[in-house]
Amino acid sequence: AEGMLWGGRFTGGIDPLMHKYNASISYDKLLYKEDILGSIAFARANAKSGIISDDEFVEIERGLHEVLKEWDTDTFTIRPNDEDIHTANERRLGEIIGKDIAGKLHTGRSRNEQVVCDMRMWLRERIHEIDDQLVAFLQVIITRAEVEISDHIMPGYTHLQRAMAVRFSAWLLSFGFAFASDLERLRETLKRVNKSPLGSGALAGNAFNIDRDMMAKELGFDGILWNSMGAVSSRDFVTEFLQWGSMFMGHISNWSQDLILYSSSEFGFVSIADAYSTGSSLMPQKKNPDGLELLRGKSGRCFGQLAGFMMTSKALTSTYNKDLQESWEPMLDHVSTISDSIQIANGILSTLTLRPEQMLAALDPTLLATDLADFLVRKGVPFRETHHISGQVVAKSEELGIPMDKLSLEQLQAIDDRFSKDVMDTFNYETSVESRSAKGGTSRSSVLEQIKVLRALLK
Ligand code: ARG
Repeated sequence: AEGMLWGGRFTGGIDPLMHKYNASISYDKLLYKEDILGSIAFARANAKSGIISDDEFVEIERGLHEVLKEWDTDTFTIRPNDEDIHTANERRLGEIIGKDIAGKLHTGRSRNEQVVCDMRMWLRERIHEIDDQLVAFLQVIITRAEVEISDHIMPGYTHLQRAMAVRFSAWLLSFGFAFASDLERLRETLKRVNKSPLGSGALAGNAFNIDRDMMAKELGFDGILWNSMGAVSSRDFVTEFLQWGSMFMGHISNWSQDLILYSSSEFGFVSIADAYSTGSSLMPQKKNPDGLELLRGKSGRCFGQLAGFMMTSKALTSTYNKDLQESWEPMLDHVSTISDSIQIANGILSTLTLRPEQMLAALDPTLLATDLADFLVRKGVPFRETHHISGQVVAKSEELGIPMDKLSLEQLQAIDDRFSKDVMDTFNYETSVESRSAKGGTSRSSVLEQIKVLRALLK
């Protein structure tokens, strides 16, 4: 353990594989900037409480800015003993400003507080970015729902069986509202991510009366974590983000699945742009919806990371245990997976071609069976009875091999004599969607109202 920052009490060397197994520098180096800003805030607070001098602080700050510049310009050299980003930065600071002063940076501080400070600051910024990306995607959804409101009526499904006619816009907005709830949940999560652990020490707090509020403010946190033991041991903020991401990716997965189906030759309601499709190495005719399939598939990876880390973090003894280092990789992967996925989904929707003629071709009169029942309801017939009557009409049409809307008035009246001439107006898909005009329905006015509500949520 010679050359390690913590090497004082060791006499034996470390197994090289153990060194590699233990090290987190290969991924936590991504957070070099957060780590340096955290160190500057810590040194400033130490100067304020007088445990280091103002001059020493100035020197530490100058040195850390140089380390930052090296990272920014890709000239920082990681050394074999650099176990993680915290030790790497401190080692380099010592080389730049000398060990006498650099050795004071870690006064009263532990990597246990440093690591969560870095992760919380980083995740906070990524959440802001994901928020922006999600808002942009929602704007595309809203605009598309508005533009396509007119003639795009398609079958709506339950159990994947044709159920009732719906506007394409209503289908799209169903996901719009799900994503808007996701956005709301993300913003809620941020509140718990953005709390400062600095000043918690290894577990027991700070012995030099450090000004925790001052550090929290400097680093942009909304307050501090109030218990030092909890502050260093909790990765709840990671778990909550993984839970958020898992639910979000579940929505993305369902959305993709619908579009994969709708883009098949059998449905043909939509066609995916070349930019998000790929071909087959063997079959020349193929155009596969790979973008959507990846969106659908990535949810599995996200759920797995969530489940994996929840397993890791349960049944740990208080407070810091190295198991917690296992929170890094799921967090990093979740962020990039989600951020890429939102942008791909945005691209797919922005370039999606709708094929209203195919939607129309998929509409069949049985989708209007409920409307036929509703027709008699409006004449005062109890719904249970009208349901049965309309069912008989469906059966009759199947028996005769005549589409429901092509049965004659006489044939309908033979089933129930309360069918009057205007029943023929029922057999119209536009009329059907327009009749569902209560809030949330598929009529033009209901859909427009939903667009307004959704848009207002984004403000
Ligand atoms: N790389 C470590 C992590 O991610 C940093 C904290 C190390 N603390 C310690 N006591 N070994 O958790």
